[in-house]
Amino acid sequence: MTAAAAQGLGPPPARPAGALLPASCRVLSTRRELPDTWTLELEAPPGFAARPGQFSMLYAFGVGEVPISFSGLPGPTVPEGRLVQTIRAVGATTRALCALRAGDVVGVRGPFGAPWPVERAHGQDAVFVAGGIGLAPLRPALEAALAARARFGRVVLLVGARTPADLLYREQLEAWARRGDVEVRVTVDAAPAGPGAAWTGDVGFVTALLPRAGLDPARAVAFVCGPEVMMRFVARDLAGLGVDPARVLVSLERNMHCAVGTCGRCQLAGSFVCKDGPVFPWPQVEPLLRVREL
Ligand SMILES: Cc1cc2nc3c(=O)[nH]c(=O)nc-3n(C[C@H](O)[C@H](O)[C@H](O)COP(=O)(O)OP(=O)(O)OC[C@H]3O[C@@H](n4cnc5c(N)ncnc54)[C@H](O)[C@@H]3O)c2cc1C
Ligand code: FES
Repeated sequence: MTAAAAQGLGPPPARPAGALLPASCRVLSTRRELPDTWTLELEAPPGFAARPGQFSMLYAFGVGEVPISFSGLPGPTVPEGRLVQTIRAVGATTRALCALRAGDVVGVRGPFGAPWPVERAHGQDAVFVAGGIGLAPLRPALEAALAARARFGRVVLLVGARTPADLLYREQLEAWARRGDVEVRVTVDAAPAGPGAAWTGDVGFVTALLPRAGLDPARAVAFVCGPEVMMRFVARDLAGLGVDPARVLVSLERNMHCAVGTCGRCQLAGSFVCKDGPVFPWPQVEPLLRVREL
């Protein structure tokens, strides 16, 4: 029995998530996506209004606090009052978050950061390019586009994973592909060969899908998320296809502490990734990412 329960206090009252003080939120369900990757469905703090591309600071009590993007927000697929976040276990805090189960409580601060400007693709073609777990922060943006499908021209989703076993949201990719109004193409860097090999799709880097997508450079607005090196090559190849780099949006990851632009931990030259980003137009960050150690 917890100390609070022993004193008859019950669970802490729900209160809004603050910028500095975490709100205690219950884990409603968990889902193992990949051996090291879990999706948590959380009870949202009261009044919590997040947008695609934003993130929260998730606090695993007694372990640590880390920035995690929203991979699902209230809309056609997520009920009101819930938040969905997909986490890959890479260190102590993400391992603790991935070990949470329904009924556990996690600390939530936020929402933080600049959202994907999905509306920039109204009347244009929205092109989502994801590498690995980069599909998680893009998913709410794609869902927002699909919820307002008539506002967009083509909606294209290009996904790359290291191997078929590393492919995130596999069932959802298949469901999107079945809709007929979103063009889904998936590639893996490497697939097991030989008899019984289950992968019959494309093999190669996600950049190989770009020339085959038949993009109209004058209409494409690209939303790109994945490892930094992948985003650099995608932006380069889109420019090679004639897409104006200003129409390429990327989401950056940097270590964070305060998430409100005061501690400087996430500073990238004159920008703070936590408040000026994590979503940036490519021309704003391209020169910075060329500098080693920045
Ligand atoms: C804006 C933003 C949004 C993010 N969204 C997500 C998300 O939706 N899902 C998610 O899983 N992660 C996301 N991350 C990354 C996540 O915050 C880090 O993985 C986390 O901070 C690692 O903390 P830790 O204490 O578990 O590991 P640490 O102890 O900090 O790191 C353990 C080891 O893992 C390495 N490492 C740290 N981060 C990463 C990484 N991202 N990938 C690979 N290796 C890493 C470190 O170099 C170290 O060697 C996001 C980061 C930012 C800045
Ligand atoms: S995390 Fe403190 S300034 Fe960005």
